[in-house]
Amino acid sequence: MTEPVSASPSDVIAVRDLRILFPTRDGHDTVKAVDGMDFEVRTGETFGIIGESGSGKTTLGRALVSLLKPTEGQILHQGVDPAALGARAFRKHRRDFQIVFQDPNAALNPRMTIIDSVMEPLEIVGEGDAVSRRRRGIAALERVGLSPEAADRYPHQLSGGQKQRVNIARVLTLRPKVIVCDEVVAALDVSIRGDVLNLFADLQREFGLTYVFITHDISVVSHISDRIAVTYLGKLMELGPAEDVIEHPLHPYTRALLSAEPIPLPSHLRVDRRIILEGEIPSPVAPPSGCRFRTRCPSVRPRCADEVPAWREVRPGHRVACHFATADGPPPDQRQAQNTTIMGEPTCA
Ligand SMILES: Nc1ncnc2c1ncn2[C@@H]1O[C@H](COP(=O)(O)OP(=O)(O)OP(=O)(O)O)[C@@H](O)[C@H]1O
Ligand code: SF4
Ligand SMILES: [Mg+2]
Repeated sequence: MTEPVSASPSDVIAVRDLRILFPTRDGHDTVKAVDGMDFEVRTGETFGIIGESGSGKTTLGRALVSLLKPTEGQILHQGVDPAALGARAFRKHRRDFQIVFQDPNAALNPRMTIIDSVMEPLEIVGEGDAVSRRRRGIAALERVGLSPEAADRYPHQLSGGQKQRVNIARVLTLRPKVIVCDEVVAALDVSIRGDVLNLFADLQREFGLTYVFITHDISVVSHISDRIAVTYLGKLMELGPAEDVIEHPLHPYTRALLSAEPIPLPSHLRVDRRIILEGEIPSPVAPPSGCRFRTRCPSVRPRCADEVPAWREVRPGHRVACHFATADGPPPDQRQAQNTTIMGEPTCA
């Protein structure tokens, strides 16, 4: 059961009972990529999303910018349901909600010059003439730290970091309100990730952007996010202010993810070893009954197989989907109490 969540004018996106299902390849079954999510993204914030590979992050990100339609439920953009708009109104609306992907090459046509790629979105929406589009394209390239000389090059003549800057310039020309950043630094050399993240932060201040930042890197997400959502197998496990999620994780899954990081846990949650989750993430075609984390949860109890945990606010603005989480934290790790070894890998991408 889901607690009702009030809509607020400060929410740029409101997600209600969202489900996104895909047919399996043989057509006989359904992949539940997003299987019931409720949350809001507030204007001007950085909303971080972490979770293991296959937990539905990219599917969710694509739906947030209307590249995918909800199978069930709604995604409201400033109170408007884009799925209910006519074609022309939809095109106008969509430019406010943009996405940048992990692969710097994904949005760049290898046969187009950089400036042509940057101007392309403006051409598609029919804004300005060729001269003004080029002027805006060059200004956007300069804003992301690329010299005008880069404009007439081709993608293969730029580094990965430079190409990712081009992708940012591409969406900036449209002056969006929201940018979904899907693993945008994951493919980049570690040495330049910081520069690209700083660029995102500068652009947010300058243009009042809202970010939905999808990443498997907890240190990145904890550093840049105002709030953090933790996904597992198509559902949210936990959502709250970034500092509170890091300092006071409420869900056993979040605790396990954090225990693998160099971020020091608060003393009451500190474990003398890394909590390693057992086994693989189950199939989203047939997720476990009750709590879908139960097959790997170190705190599992009999009730977990029978009842889907409610999405509850347990600390101020901090929600969790676990029967036994309290304001003090997750339920005790049963296996740690029994001093047994916990096997497996808690990778999250
Ligand atoms: N078009 C599609 N058709 C069928 N299944 C899909 C489709 N897109 C995604 N899926 C499945 O939905 C689930 C969620 O995929 P998604 O790409 O959203 O996960 P993710 O959290 O972004 O993973 P990663 O961290 O690896 O990028 C996966 O099981 C995936 O195989
Ligand atoms: S509901 Fe049960 S299985 Fe799910 S996270 Fe809580 S203790 Fe673990
Ligand atoms: Mg993904």
